[in-house]
Amino acid sequence: MKTSPIGVFDSGYGGLTVLKDLIKSMPEYDFLYLGDNARTPYGTRSFDVVYDYTLQAVKYLFAQGCPLVIIACNTASAKALRNIQMLDLPHLAPDNRVLGVIRPSVEKVSEITQNGHVGVLGTVGTVASESYPIELEKWSDGQVKSTVQEACPMWVPLVENNEIENVGADYFVQKNIEAILAKDKFIDTLILGCTHYPLLIDVIKKYVPENINILTQGAIVAEKLVDYLKRHPEMEKRLTKCSNLVYQTTESAVTFESKAALFMGSEVNAKTVHLW
Ligand code: DGL
Repeated sequence: MKTSPIGVFDSGYGGLTVLKDLIKSMPEYDFLYLGDNARTPYGTRSFDVVYDYTLQAVKYLFAQGCPLVIIACNTASAKALRNIQMLDLPHLAPDNRVLGVIRPSVEKVSEITQNGHVGVLGTVGTVASESYPIELEKWSDGQVKSTVQEACPMWVPLVENNEIENVGADYFVQKNIEAILAKDKFIDTLILGCTHYPLLIDVIKKYVPENINILTQGAIVAEKLVDYLKRHPEMEKRLTKCSNLVYQTTESAVTFESKAALFMGSEVNAKTVHLW
């Protein structure tokens, strides 16, 4: 049977942290996960390159029958989403939708912060794009008074290279957490603005004081997507619901399967695909 899954895209394994929560909240839907592991990380790449890569992925997922694509990557959401929505979607597939992870996170931060002091941890690209400070200013309704950011360029490579339980992870996590806390000692909400970072959550918690809320994006994106589909029945109707899960990667399927299975807690069958 031909399925119309929800496409979930990331530069590598990070988007699995979002997929896991999507499956938990919406188990009946079909999902197609695509990791561009061959070209990860995106975080240090230029605007044009991230836009190009992300557009290739979106076109590919549309061609696979996904009417709705979630860009489960902050870097791609920051650098490519707006252009794709404004410039590409109208002629590619005007009835399809591409959604990102920054807007739902910004809405959640605004609901949660008590004192309006927010910290954002992200890739070099996400931080340089200023997407979080700009969107928090725009959408928080005055709730957010100060946003400080810290780029953590080593965290994605630590995750992608399976180093999360080694001393190197502690070193880099402690260094970046201390740096952001030094920028604003009143932070009460810290957003992990990269979908890879929840994989480092045990290490992160060691260095973040307990009174600070650490927000991970999976549950937030899932909650907002359920709400989105309630408000958009025309899209909801197009999505098939056979609890089908397909994993695709641009790198080795065998490597993807072993790492993804560890994280998802169940067997993963992946296929290598070519986007270019
Ligand atoms: N998981 C991605 C994000 O949320 C990006 C990582 C990368 O490829 O640098 O930004």
